[in-house]
Amino acid sequence: MAEPARTPFPQTDGNGPRVYLHTYGCQMNVSDSQTIESMLADSGYRFSETAEEADVVLVNTCMIRETAEVRALGQLANLSALKKSNPTRVIGILGCVAQAKRKEILESHPYVDLVVGPDSYRRLPILLEERFISPPGSPGLLETTLMREELYDDIMPRHHGGVTAFVTIIRGCDKFCSFCVVPRTRGRERSRPLPSVLREVEHLVSQGVRDIMLLGQNVDSYRWEGRDFADCLAAVADLPGVVRVRYMTSHPTDISDKLLKTMGKHPKICPYLHLPVQAGNNRVLNEMNRPYTREHYLGIIERARKYVPDIALSTDIIVGFPTETEAEFEDTFNLMSEVRYDTAFMFKYSERPLTKASKQIDDIPDDVKVARLERLIKLQQKIARERNEAQVGRDTEILIEGLAPKDSNMWSGRTPDFRPVVMPQNGEQIGDLVPVRLDSLTGFTFHASKLF
Ligand code: 5AD
Ligand code: SF4
Repeated sequence: MAEPARTPFPQTDGNGPRVYLHTYGCQMNVSDSQTIESMLADSGYRFSETAEEADVVLVNTCMIRETAEVRALGQLANLSALKKSNPTRVIGILGCVAQAKRKEILESHPYVDLVVGPDSYRRLPILLEERFISPPGSPGLLETTLMREELYDDIMPRHHGGVTAFVTIIRGCDKFCSFCVVPRTRGRERSRPLPSVLREVEHLVSQGVRDIMLLGQNVDSYRWEGRDFADCLAAVADLPGVVRVRYMTSHPTDISDKLLKTMGKHPKICPYLHLPVQAGNNRVLNEMNRPYTREHYLGIIERARKYVPDIALSTDIIVGFPTETEAEFEDTFNLMSEVRYDTAFMFKYSERPLTKASKQIDDIPDDVKVARLERLIKLQQKIARERNEAQVGRDTEILIEGLAPKDSNMWSGRTPDFRPVVMPQNGEQIGDLVPVRLDSLTGFTFHASKLF
């Protein structure tokens, strides 16, 4: 039988192979996918809207929690069908699951052509090329070496339009929280040189971006030639054309008063802080290898509110960490009432491979975890509602991001503290900063009117 023909490679005539890239997980993965797209576009690839019409199907996976991994692995079944329907189609698994489960994926899913971890994306064009010239059915290729220095620093990520964009400033994590797989999949912490961060922001501004989200697993560890994260944040905010700067994620051990003071002083830095607490009990924090106390954390919150009045706060919390008692969970519950977050991301503990906590027995029964989670979610919903209601009547500014999803006669945008707002259109443009009064609230969305 004649071998099915593969798309010739490379092609730079605008007819190159079509790629479909599906991204799961956090903003870091979204940002990585934009870097991948940029590299592939430079190598002559085009992008397709659906997997069915693509010559290359790539899935960027996440495994931070078990549910994310199950979702990503569940995709593998669909990929098998895509391969069957077109055996020349190249199938690639990227991201954290690729890094941590590389052998298992290739062994148990023979239709997978490529398994490429987060620090090896630079090799993707070459690996794809090899795959295009090798006969269909050849054993899959594996590239998951953790590159200490990889920053993808010289690559301008592909921007998808719109006024907001992510910019990665630091990759990897050295914290080794005992529940977290990230340091094993994304390697050691490394900061990007400040000039290249600024270059990327300037490039985005020239494409119409106004709102920059600086990203890193732990942005507070940013260091480059004597500059720290507060310096980096201020330098980005100082760039002409930048209207707003936000960032995530911070760590209570590393966040500095200098950063909080910089936020308070600089009008373009959004009054928003995502500061994961994970637990409100000191013994559990110690077990989690989070080297701070509840008291230290509450001190940061107090200073954040002092230096940045009206700051919005968000957090991550895990319930049901191994050995967490009811009384210890109660400390987390009380901490939430004490801090009164605007938003919280709450999770049931799930055991992750390669982590320190995975050596402990996952001894909290699922129904107990669920009950704790439900209590927390209920409390947080009540607090968020109250905090939002307190905003009604307030005068603020919104950055117009686009048309309101439910009404194309309205704009949708956000306040500086990241609250979603809709307002009637009246000659404004996407990217404008508009002074408004928050008139009313429906669910979590404000209705606003222009002030002048
Ligand atoms: N189980 C549950 N939640 C987890 N997170 C990280 N690892 C786990 C795990 N094993 C949560 C933490 C982290 C957020 C991104 O995901 O709260 O801050
Ligand atoms: Fe994971 Fe902790 Fe690093 Fe965040 S700080 S990525 S939770 S190890």
